Order: sequence, then C-alpha cells, then structure tokens
Amino acid sequence: MILGIETSCDETAAALVTNDGRVLANVVSSQAKLHARYGGVVPEVASRHHLELLLPAVRQAFDDSGTRLDQVERVAVTQGPGLVGALLIGVSAAKALAWARRLPLVPVNHLHGHVASLYLEPDPVEPPFLCLLASGGHTLLLDVRDRRTLEVLGTTLDDAAGEAFDKGARLLGLGYPGGVEIDRLASDGDPEAFSFPVARVPGLDFSFSGLKTALLYTVRDLGPEETEGLRADLAASYQHAIVRALVERAEAAAQATGAERIAVVGGVASNSELRRSFSNAVFAPPALCTDNAAMIASAARFIEPIPYPQYLALDAFA
Ligand SMILES: Nc1ncnc2c1ncn2[C@@H]1O[C@H](COP(=O)(O)OP(=O)(O)OP(=O)(O)O)[C@@H](O)[C@H]1O
Ligand SMILES: [Mg+2]
Repeated sequence: MILGIETSCDETAAALVTNDGRVLANVVSSQAKLHARYGGVVPEVASRHHLELLLPAVRQAFDDSGTRLDQVERVAVTQGPGLVGALLIGVSAAKALAWARRLPLVPVNHLHGHVASLYLEPDPVEPPFLCLLASGGHTLLLDVRDRRTLEVLGTTLDDAAGEAFDKGARLLGLGYPGGVEIDRLASDGDPEAFSFPVARVPGLDFSFSGLKTALLYTVRDLGPEETEGLRADLAASYQHAIVRALVERAEAAAQATGAERIAVVGGVASNSELRRSFSNAVFAPPALCTDNAAMIASAARFIEPIPYPQYLALDAFA
C-alpha cells in the first residue's frame, strides 16, 4: 500500500492506493474558499493551511480505509512543480512519516501525477495514447508511450487553459476558482454570440493571452450593465474558444504521432463542453481531474523509490 501526499497548490490531499491501483482512500481538503476573497491563491496563506490540514487529512485517509500506518510500504509525495512553500510542507511531512517507519520515499512530478490519474482502477487506460493535460498551471500535449515515459509535444506560450478560465471568470465578475463558474453559466448561453479569436501559433503549442484580452475589450465596450445581461453568452463564447483550441490542437497532435487514442487529464478535463467536444477521447474520472493524492500515489507505482534514509536531503522544486 502506498501513502500519497499532495500539497503543490491549494488542495491539501492524502490518499492510500494499492500497488495494483485500487484507491482505498482519497481525501482532498480544498482551501479554495479561503483564497476566494483574494481572487486567487496566496502562496504563504496556502502553506500555513497545509501545515494545519495535512496530518488530519492523512488520519482521515487511514480512518476512511480502515488501515494503519504500519501497513504502508512506500510514501509518495509531490516534489514539484508548484508553490515551493506549499510543496515543502508535503515533502517535510512525507519524509517524517517515511523516516519514522524506515520506509522508502517516492518523489513524484505533479504532472506525471495528473497523467497517472488514468492508471487507477476500476477503468485504467493503457498507453500508448496522446495526452492533453489542461490544468491551472499547464497546458501540455504529451506523447505517452508507456507508464514510465512521456514526451512533451506542445505547451502554452503564455497562460494555461485553466488560468484562462480563471482570468475570464474574474473579468465577468464570477467567483474563484472560475472554471466551474464559467462552465455552469455557459450552459445558459449562446456559444456563437461573440466571436473570440483563438491564436494560431506554429507547431503544437497554445496561446490564450490574446483571447483573454479580447474578452477584456468586449467587456469594456459593453459596460457593466450590458455585460451583466450578456454574461451567459460571454461565458459560453469564451469557453467555446478555449475548448475549440484544445480540441483542434490535441487532434492535430494525435494525427502527427499516429496515436489512436486521446486521453484528457487535469482540472479543465472536468469541463462539460470539453467532455462533449472530442469525438473519441477518454477522460480522467471527474474526482481525479483536479489536484488529489491518489494520482500521486498512482504515479509512484512506476518510479524507483529512494531507500531510507537517503531521501532526508530531498528538496522541493518550484
Ligand atoms: N468545469 C471546469 N471547466 C473549466 N475549468 C475548470 C473546471 N473545473 C476546474 N477547472 C479549472 O482547473 C484548474 C485547476 O486544475 P488543477 O487542480 O489540475 O490545476 P493546478 O493544480 O492548479 O495546476 P497544475 O496542475 O498545472 O499545477 C483551475 O484553473 C480551474 O478553473
Ligand atoms: Mg494540478
């Protein structure tokens, strides 16, 4: 059994996963409400809350699954990328727990974790596939050959897709995090009401900053009252532009690599229009799209563990 710990951003998460990929417990304590009044995550506030919430989350995972620390064989933790202060809380806790039981430790790249959300029971996805990873900090096209190797084919040149959702939501006066709010509002709007441009950058990369500026100018031209009345149409058109960019590029990448399957992971993978728009793609289960520790424990199954006590000098990376 693997104990997974994730604290890279504003979710404090602990999970227990078996070596064959069954999730015994998956506890996610989101701080989103605490950060909402600032309109985004405040790194130092996130670190302090991780410190308070992490051990209760680990205890909850043992309670939920009826297991104990002495049944854990390996401890897995997100090493990066993320907010470095937030990551350090998880890394320190994981080291302490592993050290106390003389267990090996597995440092996990958060992005590998998102991909490994596809490898969990009951419906694991077998590579090879083309993976679209769309989250709050990243928009990547990955050529996934097997469970241990992936190659980056494309990335965003500016904002990430989730970031575009969050910034768009802010321009529309919606709450944080904005992706879910835009998704909800868009279902009552007309996606063709406004024509927002999707930048066409060369190769398989993405760019979302022009789209955000287009929304900013539209909202400015309309003024507060008209914007209020047209919010659903604005949200639907804006979402449509992001989704179209993601689908077009992912399908082009699949064609370029000859991949027969597209798999979608990361927070944006829970977007309802995105889930409808691919003709033939598999999606991570909604509960495993946004940050969680089950995906971190899942990734750890395919990474060489560091034996006790060599990991005591391990550092997080931003
Ligand atoms: N239904 C949805 N539609 C669109 N975006 C969504 C939806 N649900 C969540 N998101 C977006 O997903 C993002 C959060 O995803 P995730 O937790 O994977 O990102 P992160 O961990 O902050 O970034 P990274 O994984 O790159 O470090 C936010 O930007 C949020 O707005
Ligand atoms: Mg993430």
